[in-house]
Amino acid sequence: MTNPLWIAPSLLAADFADLGAQVRQCEAAGADLIHCDVMDGHFVPNLTFGPPVIRRLHALTSLPLDVHLMIERPEDSLGWYRDAGAAYITVHQETCSDLRSVLSRIRSFGIRSGVSVKPATPMQTLESVLGDFDLLLVMTVNPGFGGQRFMDEVVPKIAEADRWRRDGRAEFRIAVDGGIDENTAPRVRKAGADVLVAGTAVFQGNIAENVRRLREAATC
Ligand code: DX5
Ligand code: ZN
Repeated sequence: MTNPLWIAPSLLAADFADLGAQVRQCEAAGADLIHCDVMDGHFVPNLTFGPPVIRRLHALTSLPLDVHLMIERPEDSLGWYRDAGAAYITVHQETCSDLRSVLSRIRSFGIRSGVSVKPATPMQTLESVLGDFDLLLVMTVNPGFGGQRFMDEVVPKIAEADRWRRDGRAEFRIAVDGGIDENTAPRVRKAGADVLVAGTAVFQGNIAENVRRLREAATC
């Protein structure tokens, strides 16, 4: 059984001086989620935005906000993202010493919990928290920057997560993030991904056309 495909434009590649209009264009283009990359300059070298920007975006779109926290000590600020209107909060496995309690805290807010793994992080690190997350975000590049090359060697991790679902061990959505475009989308979809996070492939050029082409590429 395959979940319906969701397209999640990643705002990292959007025009930060015109974020509101870009989000509205994604909505009109039929995107399913808005992926918000929060970076702290520590866990990853880059810096982006935080709760005040997310709060403003929440006020102007009805699309669910999928907040990808690339920050150290995410447990210190989860409440800020809940208050800002996140529908999903995703933390990195590598940043949590007690991952189960962080995930259950997110769920206790009445929102969906997500966990992400960097390309080099083994899937076994998640086996002890199966059942505690609603979204698994498999990084197909090293987090921190948009426009990087998709790492083919990560595809077996997507397939492994899909096997966990097929074996009935847990129910969750599999999202992929990094280098997703018309060429890589069919490969990750075939491996079991059901949420495509895409920055460059959505925001470079015409958003509506790009979302349509991405969906079409992953559907055949
Ligand atoms: C990278 C971010 C991604 C990024 C993807 O650390 O998590 O969401 O925006 O960008 P593209 O789609 O350009 O690889
Ligand atoms: Zn991301």
